[in-house]
Amino acid sequence: MGDGRRGDVTDRATAGFRQRYDAEPAGRWAAPGRVNLIGEHTDYNDGFVLPFALPLRTVVAAAPGPDGRWTVWSELDDEPVEFGAEKADDPGRVDGWAAYVAGVVWALRAAGLDVPGARLAIASDVPVGSGLSSSAAIESAVLAALVDLGALDLPTERWPRLAQRAENDYVGAPTGIMDQSAVIRGLQGHALFLDCRTEEVEQIPFDPAAAGLAVLVVDSRAPHRHADGEYAARRKSCERAAATLGVAALRDVPTADLDAALARLDDDETRRRVRHVVTEDQRVLDTVALLRAGRVREIGPLLTASHASMRDDFEITVPEVDTAVEAALAAGAHGARMTGGGFGGCVLALVDADAADTVADAVAAAYAERGLAAPGTLTVQPAGGVTRL
Ligand code: GLA
Repeated sequence: MGDGRRGDVTDRATAGFRQRYDAEPAGRWAAPGRVNLIGEHTDYNDGFVLPFALPLRTVVAAAPGPDGRWTVWSELDDEPVEFGAEKADDPGRVDGWAAYVAGVVWALRAAGLDVPGARLAIASDVPVGSGLSSSAAIESAVLAALVDLGALDLPTERWPRLAQRAENDYVGAPTGIMDQSAVIRGLQGHALFLDCRTEEVEQIPFDPAAAGLAVLVVDSRAPHRHADGEYAARRKSCERAAATLGVAALRDVPTADLDAALARLDDDETRRRVRHVVTEDQRVLDTVALLRAGRVREIGPLLTASHASMRDDFEITVPEVDTAVEAALAAGAHGARMTGGGFGGCVLALVDADAADTVADAVAAAYAERGLAAPGTLTVQPAGGVTRL
């Protein structure tokens, strides 16, 4: 499913560093992409999510550089980007992919930390623009590199908020805390059950292979249509609804009170948005309960219900992802849903391990029938979070 780059990602980052800076890196740090098993658009409503880290990683090779200056090269671009404190301290001054790097420098400095100057080289197997959190992977790998290089006193529990601030306040994307949490706190063989209000975490064993299952990830290849504006609009609508209902966040509407809450809202669209968030929080809790009981296969219908809710109530799916979900289900998947912010991106399907190829072929056939570009497919297992290599 990658973008066709050759060779090991760590070797590419290292070779990029040597070539660009004519020196050896002091170290290499890796951060994964993520998928979200369930719990979409619940994070910024102070609710629950259940993502896991992917075996696809972004690697940063880095070494100390001149004080107060950062140079960063990525294989996405021929030319490195260089900036100093004047740009790092001024959100938006660095743009494009390098904004995620400058944003991390900014967030660390804004937290009062003495960020060391550095030279960095970035290579990635996390596809960009597929909704697998390539941006959180860059932020987290760079954060880990700078924390280590500067021996900064910053416990890992604080990393997700800092990386999120980089994205919210420097890059300017009003996202929640899910992606950075999954990428930083992910644990092999587990899904991360995160309470986005308290940031309390429980690692839930999730080993589809042991249950004879696989998680198939399908890249819908749908271009992200107006994703940023639509995401911000959904978030605003949720915040307005919470204010109308007199609660701090939609997380505070118990499932049992949903009907009463809906009756207090005066437009249908807002009612649908609220219904998605409240029912989605409940689906996360139900999924966690099933996984704790080892009933992995039975989470399928919850995944499919989540998709229907995103399609009909939150209205964030597009025909390509709906096609992939329908084709996967018709080919025998136990459950399937879009994962991530929406308007494109990836679909995940829970399938019998020995049916993964059949389901992938069925999705490809459905795409071909509709004249859509062939989707990328990959089976994944939960992997570990950010690490120094
Ligand atoms: C994007 C955001 C996350 C989350 C999801 C939707 O991935 O970055 O914070 O809101 O969308 O669940």
